[in-house]
Amino acid sequence: MRALVTGASGFIGSHLVERLLAEGAQVKCLVRRHSNLRWLKNLPVILSPGDFQDPASLARAVRDVEEVYHVAGATRAARRAEYFRANHQATVNLLRACRDHGPPGQKFIFISSLAAAGPSAGEPLAEDTPSRPVSAYGASKLLAEQAVLNFSRQRSATIIRPPVVYGPRDQEALLLFRSVQRGFHIIPGRGAQRLSLVHIQDLVAGILLASRRAQGRGEIYYLSGEQDCDWQDLGECLGRVLGRRVRTLYAPGWMIHLAGLAGSAISQLSRTPALWNLDKVKEIRQTYWLCSCRKARMELGFQPVMDLSEGLTATAAWYRRMGWL
Ligand SMILES: NC(=O)c1ccc[n+]([C@@H]2O[C@H](COP(=O)([O-])OP(=O)(O)OC[C@H]3O[C@@H](n4cnc5c(N)ncnc54)[C@H](OP(=O)(O)O)[C@@H]3O)[C@@H](O)[C@H]2O)c1
Repeated sequence: MRALVTGASGFIGSHLVERLLAEGAQVKCLVRRHSNLRWLKNLPVILSPGDFQDPASLARAVRDVEEVYHVAGATRAARRAEYFRANHQATVNLLRACRDHGPPGQKFIFISSLAAAGPSAGEPLAEDTPSRPVSAYGASKLLAEQAVLNFSRQRSATIIRPPVVYGPRDQEALLLFRSVQRGFHIIPGRGAQRLSLVHIQDLVAGILLASRRAQGRGEIYYLSGEQDCDWQDLGECLGRVLGRRVRTLYAPGWMIHLAGLAGSAISQLSRTPALWNLDKVKEIRQTYWLCSCRKARMELGFQPVMDLSEGLTATAAWYRRMGWL
């Protein structure tokens, strides 16, 4: 089996590459000129230099692979238009290359996001709940999904919507780990937000199941872990994992908004995506980011194995080994 992975230099993509290699696949990685190849450099992969704005490079990347895993995407951006360029336009260009240059029977697996569907009203979202994204990031992923759905009328395509993903190499959760390690747990707002999460190991296992077992007719699957949690649960669990007594601090809404305003202003001036911006503020204000993986269980046999405590313990151990924590 030959597979192409876009976004292979990133957190999710690099784990997917390793998993595909472990299953005996030949893996090709679409990488940009400035991609950081630290997670790929010791792996027996074929690097396919390219860019989503360069159709010839996409044609070269897709023409001899049976599976295309489109993981690349911008989770933060300096401007609204950048989300749409990196998430929607890039997907449209890649789909066009697959349509024109991909071998018959090629499978396309798109890594979207729970953000494309938007927050839930309390109950975990199912795949057929109407989508109402609240952020530019979510809206750009939803538009990309629509392009994949159109494509699925002629070619095999499947959409995966992960919630928050954590595990080794993730730099976003690292900030939370570092703060708890110092004895502080900073909770946004009043701490009422509940989240679905998935450990990277469970996510990549689910992605491969989707690629092997889904019909490829534009099905959407949520892949989440067993437990959801709120910020309090997360802080307490992490405190136990790191062996720290944790003092909880609440960041009021105005402070979160001010930080978002500052992040957006700085990133617009510097033209570099900030970790925190007004788009992320829209997401953090929602109470429920919950999804159910029931459909993936029933149709794909997806069975997440990492519980939160085990997943956080494994992640902390990796951060420590790397000297990140
Ligand atoms: N992490 C999560 O919690 C989470 C949750 C739900 C969905 N997702 C989705 O999963 C995918 C991967 O996320 P991640 O957490 O692995 O992110 P990541 O570590 O930041 O990796 C992003 C990857 O996408 C590439 N990329 C970023 N912007 C790009 C652009 N403008 N044009 C082309 N390539 C670009 C990066 O390539 P370079 O190395 O060249 O920059 C990198 O390989 C994204 O599509 C994201 O929307 C992530």
